[in-house]
Amino acid sequence: MVHSAILNVMIKAAYRAGRSLKRDLGEVEHLQVSLKGPRNFVTAADRRAEEIVYEELAKARPDYGFLGEEGGARAGTDKSHRWIVDPLDGTTNFLHGIPHFAVSIALERDGAIVAALTYNPANDDLFVAERGKGAFLNDRRIRVAARQRFADAVVACGLPHYGRGDLALGRHEIAAAQSHFAGLRRFGAASLDLAWVAAGRFDAYWERDLSPWDLAAGILLVREAGGFVSDLDGGDAILSKGSVAAGNETMHRELIRLMQEAGKQAANDPQREINQSPAKVALPAPGGRRAT
Ligand code: IPD
Ligand code: CA
Ligand code: CA
Repeated sequence: MVHSAILNVMIKAAYRAGRSLKRDLGEVEHLQVSLKGPRNFVTAADRRAEEIVYEELAKARPDYGFLGEEGGARAGTDKSHRWIVDPLDGTTNFLHGIPHFAVSIALERDGAIVAALTYNPANDDLFVAERGKGAFLNDRRIRVAARQRFADAVVACGLPHYGRGDLALGRHEIAAAQSHFAGLRRFGAASLDLAWVAAGRFDAYWERDLSPWDLAAGILLVREAGGFVSDLDGGDAILSKGSVAAGNETMHRELIRLMQEAGKQAANDPQREINQSPAKVALPAPGGRRAT
């Protein structure tokens, strides 16, 4: 398949970073058995991957801005274009040697995502999309699942956990989804959750407390695969609110309804407690980086 010049740039960057991550995953597997564990090594692997992506993208488009999870924002002279990059999405999986993680790259033009890529180096799944041109997995066109029965649907989610998110709200949301759908999954890489909705593997997906780099590429992948994606209030402020619901039109609408219902129940829950950040609680932080 012939890709556009911009997708070629993104693919080259993702493949190079992916090769580096794959090499590092081998080392992570060795380090599991060491007392110190692979944590510091993974932090370095993550930064290395971001530098590779930055280098490749900046070589091809030196004027564009760049927002990466590790290095933060780097301004460009071209104010219309910005890359949004997660060099390693699914860090906790990577840290544990679980081969479900991704390099995710989106290109934003005047505030809209126009090109997207999510690549899992562990199994070579390459998801790409460009605005108005459809979404593809390894050069095959993908579409969201057509399933209409909630009792047949497999739905992905994120889970609030120690140090992150609203635990009570999470419990109400999970309970609502459990009693409604055929199965729930929590695989631990938001960019792949969205890509898998685009590919029809998941019927729907919701999560809160995410960052722009977790979401940017997936938004376009889902829309170009004929799906619906919004924040959990049903609006378009996905990147700024960091909440997301995705699926075909029916699944998406139902997910928003269910989660709003769960939100009302959580608000009236006498047991409700907001999860505190590790800095505020007496327990020691679990080894530095949060788990997901
Ligand atoms: C995380 C993953 C995970 C989601 C998180 C994200 P990271 O990104 O996408 O699935 O639940 O909370 O922060 O930290 O692995 O890049
Ligand atoms: Ca991420
Ligand atoms: Ca990351």
